[in-house]
Formats: sequence, C-alpha cells, structure tokens
Amino acid sequence: MELIAPHGGQLINRVLQGEEREAALEKGGGLRRIRVNSTSVSDLELIATGACSPLVGFMKKADYESVVENIRLANGFVWSVPITLAVSKTIADEIVEGTEVLLTTETDFPLALMRVEEKYTYDKTHEAEKVYGTTDDAHPGVARLYKQGEVLLGGDIWLINHLPDLPFQDFRHEPAVTRKSFQERGWKTVVAFQTRNPIHRAHEYLTKVALEGVDGLLIHPLVGETKSDDIPSDVRMECYKIMMEKYYNPKRVMLSVFPAAMRYAGPREAIFHAMLRKNYGCSHIIIGRDHAGVGSYYGTYEAQEIFDQFTQEELGIVPMKFEHAFYCKRSKQMATDKTSPSLGADDKVFLSGTKVREMLSRGELPPEEFTRPEVANVLIESYRKSL
Ligand code: ADX
Repeated sequence: MELIAPHGGQLINRVLQGEEREAALEKGGGLRRIRVNSTSVSDLELIATGACSPLVGFMKKADYESVVENIRLANGFVWSVPITLAVSKTIADEIVEGTEVLLTTETDFPLALMRVEEKYTYDKTHEAEKVYGTTDDAHPGVARLYKQGEVLLGGDIWLINHLPDLPFQDFRHEPAVTRKSFQERGWKTVVAFQTRNPIHRAHEYLTKVALEGVDGLLIHPLVGETKSDDIPSDVRMECYKIMMEKYYNPKRVMLSVFPAAMRYAGPREAIFHAMLRKNYGCSHIIIGRDHAGVGSYYGTYEAQEIFDQFTQEELGIVPMKFEHAFYCKRSKQMATDKTSPSLGADDKVFLSGTKVREMLSRGELPPEEFTRPEVANVLIESYRKSL
C-alpha cells in the first residue's frame, strides 16, 4: 500500500532553485512590488511547497466563486477556504492583467513572482456569511476579511525565497519531506493532529486513541498567525517538545509545524485542514469538538458534520471524529460520553480554556486530570514573563 495521493493527484512544487531562482530574483528587481501581509506570506509558503495542492497560485474568479458557493474548486475538487490575494483599489489600478509582479513582505523582502492573470472585485459580506457563517466583525476571521483590500489578484506564483530566520527550523518539514519521513519509518497510514493550543489531557487522549488505529501520528501544530489571546507558538512548541520526550512513543509520533494562518472558520476550516494534511501524506485527521472554532459561532459537531457532504472518494483523507472528551472520575481515566459509565455531570472534569488561563495567570497548577504538570509549568512561566 502506498501513502495517500495528494489532493488532485500530484504534489505541486513552485519553489524556484538554482539558476531559475537567480533569474527570477534579477527579473523581480525590475518589477512592480506588492507588499503582502502575514497571512498571504503563509499562503505563499503553503502553495509553493505543495501543501495547498492542486493550487498553483492565488485563486482566480471562477475558483473563488465556486469555493465560496459550493465548497469546490471550479474543476469540482473539494476546497473550502478562499486562498486569495487582496490589494487596495489604488494598487490594483496600477497593475495590468497579464503582467508579472514581485511579492514581498511588509519590509520589502522579496518572496515570489506572480503573474497577475485576473483582478476582480468581490463581496466581503457574502464571503463572510458563506465561509465563516457570520457577518459579525467580532469574529477574528471576518475582522481580517473586512480589513483587507477591495480587489483580489489571481494568478500563478513562483517562490524565490522562504522567509529568513524562521523559528522551529528543525520542525519545518514540507509535504515532500513528511511524505519521505513516513515512508522511511514504514508508516502507510498516518493520522494528523491539528492544534493551536498546548496539548492538554483531552488532546493526548484523542491522539493516542487515534494512533491505535493507524501506523503513525503527526502532531502538526499551526504556527502561522493566530489571534492575540491564543498562546504564542514558541511557548506551545516548548510544551509539545516536553510531551514528545515524556509522553509519546518517538517511534510512532512525529512533531512538525504547520505554517498556516488560523482563520477560525470552524467547519470550512476543518475541511481545509484535512485537504492540506492529505498533501502532507496523512490518511486520517482528528476532528474533535468545535474544531477550528472560536466563541460560540459554530455548533459543537458542525466541523464533523460538514464532511458528510462529500464522498470518501473525493475527500481521500478520513476524518476521525471524536466526541467531547473529559476526565471521568468514576473510571479514573479520560473518556467521552461514548465510553464513560458516568451519568452525572459531577463525575466529569471539563475545564474551559478561559478557566485554565485564569488559573495559570495566577500561577496555579490546573488539576493533573486536565493538563500534565510539566506543560502547566511552561505555561505558568510564560505568563510570569509576560507580566
Ligand atoms: S483547533 O482550533 O486547532 O481546533 P485545539 O488546538 O483546541 O483547536 O484543538 C485541536 C483538536 O482537538 C481539534 O480537532 C479539536 O476539535 C479537538 N479537541 C480539543 N479539545 C477537545 C476535547 N475536550 N474533546 C474532544 N476534542 C477536542
């Protein structure tokens, strides 16, 4: 049995190297420059390295509209989140369709060439409603959408440079590299664990239960932009490393970072997370309660239900769906309503993220049933430093 095929059948590679890269750098020097924000920097990296296969650039109008309306690219492949490059009207007016531009960071560091094949306007409120399920600008994904430019540029990209001095170099593995690693380890089926939080006991439970059914586990924390009250990625990485050293079997578990920005789009983002993990070579993905959710915008299991709109054949990757996990005092172990003998709420230890943050900021260790003390200590230390 082979590893799962990439979405669309072929792993895209748009990273220029050697002479091609040199030529692109030189050509880029004479081109119109467009500065892109950190979400687009992440998107560029994901497209170029094949994590967004079959995309080869920022979406043109037909794909954008089809994704927003039908959760599919114009060619019918499942795709749930627009990958677009937004610019102001003033910048768009200066760009002629069919010409190339140089995409740079906000500090002018050259990243990629782009052939702008189309520029088009779009309806932000409609995108918010369809993709995020709300037009409320208190939603962090919707707020970001409302702030971005009025015109979208669509067209192919070619990456010239990765961002320099990125953290977690030892844990940055492109899809081609994770795929090779899985093969070297003899894993054919691999479950991905998307997370933007430090691993607590419920996470540990889901990942270990999931691992029982497959060959390997990819712990794949998102390290692109997150909202300001999420725990920073460097602090989380310390926690993941401790978990790897002490509580996971290194022969069966790989830790690698996922360089995407968080969109908080709940169900739509769950599909997006799944398609990208398929490109990294994962045959399964954990989807628990309120995956990629924020506030109370989504139902607890909406991010699981959305998978039912598609056939397993078109998804490729299998969602491993988990009910809300908690510590069951009666059986003295992690459980869900499926496995717990308890009937009463008193037997279940659920702690909200807010409650845990409050405890940690006071320097208090949350109960061991909720989080490993080594992880809690890293978090307490980071709260202390941030005061
Ligand atoms: S997310 O934004 O990346 O989804 P988080 O890191 O909290 O946030 O969750 C990672 C994964 O674990 C998601 O699939 C989420 O649904 C799942 N999850 C988190 N906590 C629980 C829990 N107590 N019970 C079941 N699933 C959970």
